[in-house]
Amino acid sequence: MQFRYLIFAGIAAAATIAASSVIPPGTGAANAQGGVVDARATAMKTLGGSLRRVGQAASVEDARGPAAAIAGAASRLEALFPEGSGGPPTRSKPEIWQNMADFKVKLAALRDAARALDAAAKGADLDAVKAAARNVGGTCGACHRVYRAPRS
Ligand code: HEC
Repeated sequence: MQFRYLIFAGIAAAATIAASSVIPPGTGAANAQGGVVDARATAMKTLGGSLRRVGQAASVEDARGPAAAIAGAASRLEALFPEGSGGPPTRSKPEIWQNMADFKVKLAALRDAARALDAAAKGADLDAVKAAARNVGGTCGACHRVYRAPRS
C-alpha cells in the first residue's frame, strides 16, 4: 500500500518537473492574465452595450434582457482584477491594487445599482427603469475617472 503510494507520488513529482521544464517560467501566468484581461474587456463591453440598450428602450420589456445582462456582468467583475493584471497595455491603472478596498467599494456600488435596475426592469415603470439606468451610469464613471487609464 505504502509502496504503491510512493510510486504514485514519484510519478506525480516527475510529471510536475516535466511540466515545469517544458513551459518557460512566467508563460503560464501570462496566459492566465491574458485570459482575465480579455474576460474583463468582454464584461465591460457587455455593460456598455447593455446600458445603451436600456437607455434606448421604448418599453420596460425591451429593457429587461439588457438589465439582467448588466446585473450578471457586474457580479462577475470582482473576480476579474487579480493582482498583477493591470498596467500597460491594459487600461487598468496600478492604483487599483494600491487602493483595492476603495476599488471594491466602487464595484459594490455598481452591483447595487445594477440590482436595482434589474428589479425596476421586472416592474412596469419605464421612467423608474431609466432613472435606475442613470444611477448605474454614474457608478461606471465614478470608477473610470479614478482607475481607468486613457486610451493609448
Ligand atoms: C470599479 C471600477 C469600474 C466600474 C464600476 C466600471 N468599470 Fe469599466 N473599466 C474599468 C477599468 C479599470 C477598465 C480598464 C480595463 C483594462 O483595460 O484592463 C474598464 C474598461 C471599460 C471599457 C473598455 C473595455 C475594452 O477594453 O474595450 C468599457 C466599455 C467599460 N469599462 C464600460 C463600463 C460600464 C458601461 C460600466 C458601468 C455599467 C463600467 N465600465 C463600470 C473599471 C470599472
